[in-house]
Amino acid sequence: MDLGLQDRTVFVAGASSGLGLAAATALAREGCKVAICSRSAPRLADAREEIMRAAGVAPERVAVVRCNVVDEDQIKAAIAQTVDRFGGLHILLTNAGGPPTGLIDDFDAQGWRSGLELNLVSTINLCRHALPELRAAARKDGHARIVMVTSIAAKQPIQTLYLSNTARAGVQGFAKTLSEEVGADGITVNTILPGFTRTARLKHLVEDIQARTGKTAAEVEAGWAADAALRRLGEPAEFAATVAFLASRPAAYITGVALPVDGGYSKHVF
Ligand SMILES: NC(=O)c1ccc[n+]([C@@H]2O[C@H](COP(=O)([O-])OP(=O)(O)OC[C@H]3O[C@@H](n4cnc5c(N)ncnc54)[C@H](OP(=O)(O)O)[C@@H]3O)[C@@H](O)[C@H]2O)c1
Repeated sequence: MDLGLQDRTVFVAGASSGLGLAAATALAREGCKVAICSRSAPRLADAREEIMRAAGVAPERVAVVRCNVVDEDQIKAAIAQTVDRFGGLHILLTNAGGPPTGLIDDFDAQGWRSGLELNLVSTINLCRHALPELRAAARKDGHARIVMVTSIAAKQPIQTLYLSNTARAGVQGFAKTLSEEVGADGITVNTILPGFTRTARLKHLVEDIQARTGKTAAEVEAGWAADAALRRLGEPAEFAATVAFLASRPAAYITGVALPVDGGYSKHVF
């Protein structure tokens, strides 16, 4: 299938590793011009090399934009830089690192605020500042997409991930509301809810559970795998393929959807 992504311009937040990097690579492979964002210039430089190598694309097709997504001014500047570089913006992928783990007594008010800033407020601000460009792309090319990374924790809370469970559910509400408003402009808005997928974040979660329970890493991973219908963990490329489809031209009539990519981990009928 032709995804219609040739020369589309993309901003991928949280893209120096893991799910964001995999998504940026898949989109570059499909012909997009990709701006990757994270807090670290050296990690971005490595990610850019990795995308160019894995997707087989020229240096001018991958831009790095240093930006901490909890800072609204940095978001504004990063979107402006992307538009200056590529001449517009068709696709926004919102993403950031995962928040700290913990139980109810582990966070004070500032801890809660920081978690919500990282995963909820950053998403809202990325969308707010990208929207004028996305509206322009929808008018000009009839192709504008927002895809948000949340977590299966939005549907099925995970006990030590209070901050994530709470922030992601907020993002789901925001996404559905936004999809209603910008549908008339021709912009689709969808969320992807990854299950347990092999990234640096997952390694960190494994170590956290090992410290809490004394289990081995293999036991922790086997427990998650056993809970998924497919009896295994996910790969970043599997998540990335879903991003590429939701960002594509053929996905034009899909909006307001919350799509788990979790190997059947969540047990909801709808
Ligand atoms: N992997 C899973 O199983 C899984 C499942 C469900 C949900 N998720 C969620 O999906 C998101 C991505 O996870 P991942 O597994 O890909 O994690 P990861 O490998 O740790 O990658 C996180 C990325 O976000 C960037 N980042 C972190 N904080 C940032 C900030 N404030 N501003 C800009 N960039 C920031 C990091 O880059 P720098 O450090 O260079 O800034 C890195 O590129 C997380 O929110 C995670 O909780 C993951």
